[in-house]
Amino acid sequence: MASMELVADNKLLNVGLLLVATLIVAKLLSVLLLPRSNKRLPPVVKAWPVLGGLVRFLRGPVVMLRQEYPKLGSVFTLSFLNKNITFLIGPEVSAHFFKASESDLSQQEVYQFNVPTFGPGVVFDVDYSVRQEQFRFFTESLRVTKLKGYVDYMVAEAEEYFSKWGDSGEVDLKYELEHLIILTASRCLLGEEVRNKLFDDVSALFHDLDNGMLPISVIFPYLPIPAHRRRDEARKKLSGIFANIIGSRKQAGKSENDMLQSFMDSKYKDGRPTTESEVTGLLIAALFAGQHTSSITSTWTGAYLLRHKEYLAAVLDEQKDLMKKHGNRVDHDILSEMEVLYRCIKEALRLHPPLIMLLRSSHSDFSVKTKEGKEYDIPKGHIVATSPAFANRLPHVYKNPDTYDPDRFAAGRDEDKAAGAFSYISFGGGRHGCLGEPFAYLQIKAIWSHLLRNFELELISPFPEIDWNAMVVGVKGKVMVRYKRKELSLN
Ligand code: HEM
Repeated sequence: MASMELVADNKLLNVGLLLVATLIVAKLLSVLLLPRSNKRLPPVVKAWPVLGGLVRFLRGPVVMLRQEYPKLGSVFTLSFLNKNITFLIGPEVSAHFFKASESDLSQQEVYQFNVPTFGPGVVFDVDYSVRQEQFRFFTESLRVTKLKGYVDYMVAEAEEYFSKWGDSGEVDLKYELEHLIILTASRCLLGEEVRNKLFDDVSALFHDLDNGMLPISVIFPYLPIPAHRRRDEARKKLSGIFANIIGSRKQAGKSENDMLQSFMDSKYKDGRPTTESEVTGLLIAALFAGQHTSSITSTWTGAYLLRHKEYLAAVLDEQKDLMKKHGNRVDHDILSEMEVLYRCIKEALRLHPPLIMLLRSSHSDFSVKTKEGKEYDIPKGHIVATSPAFANRLPHVYKNPDTYDPDRFAAGRDEDKAAGAFSYISFGGGRHGCLGEPFAYLQIKAIWSHLLRNFELELISPFPEIDWNAMVVGVKGKVMVRYKRKELSLN
């Protein structure tokens, strides 16, 4: 009886042990496997099946973000067809977006639509290792030593352009600044041959390139439509023009201080020099990156300064101080002293970043933790996005985020740093942060210091609205300004 009981007890014990062992193994397996098999996926935006998500995105990505962020938080996914776009909004969740290596988060797929515009063999048409070298060429062409020379052109172009204005009048500031920036960019980037002899031809060709980049081009860059045909023709003609210029510079043994020269002189690590076609492609890329973005920013800066008299007074006082110190001279170092003007530009750019959406394609799973402590796993294969236009106005990062307040960047407040890196993302940041940021500020400061020193200006049209439909988001309609030529009095 006793032995029977012992056997029964043993059986019970064995079953018990087996149960415990099974539970432990199950627990272990769940710990090991759950993060893979049961991901903590971000919440998904509600939309009609198949194309609903796309429709919501195309109707206005920032409108969609404004609606979804309060409901879903800083990390959420928009799905359509077989695509998933996961948005990472705010400094707490976007570090990986900006810092990840190209093998984890890449640009090539999502920015592929630029290839027919920039041309073959450059930027998004080449492997990352080559692209990295080409970005090194950009960095070299925008070094301080080069920028110093470019500033002299910027100042000269502004002087010449505004010398053609009368003693008083009314102008569309947007149109005027767009033109001045094309002229300046031509001089600094494309070189004196284009600026002085071929400006009209080259501008017309760039116009065709520009008009060949439509929202539909992002999805179907090679669609056989007239705008794309004109784009391809223009690209070919530009290639011919730059091949001639490069040829004659080489023949004459001439060297200039411009981006064209810098790209001509650039060499890959293996010693190979750049080809004419690559130089053309890199110049087109530079113009696309820098031209609309800078002209839009200079127009917003003007609109805000003319609307907010207190900041206009502050930038005028700064100009007076600098004129007392340096006379009428303006160069790279003097522009760099314009801190108040810098903050006014930076604040216009916080409110109106021309690149409203930045994208990457994810090649490995990663996790993010929100400021509320929620963790999400973002699977590889997702497109990952962040939005300067939305993230730059987060109320937990910026006080009264919709108010124009350049002093928020002043020492002591430093609102762009207080909430951590990637709080201010008009120029992106991290691994792919804008290489032209110093160039852009110098150019906009050169224009505005000239205007402030030589004219009294008044905004006579209503404060401009945002043109959300443009590829590079800018100012809608005209920005009419009344001007009177009047040198800034130092008293
Ligand atoms: C106000 C003017 C400008 C704004 C707002 C601006 C904005 C940006 C942004 C947001 C990015 C990052 C894109 C991304 O992460 O996907 C970027 C990258 C870049 N920008 Fe700018 N940009 C400006 C002017 C310029 C100028 C003047 C140039 C050159 C002359 C330039 C050259 C570049 C280049 C080469 C990159 C690519 C960097 C990389 O991927 O490593 N930008 N810019």
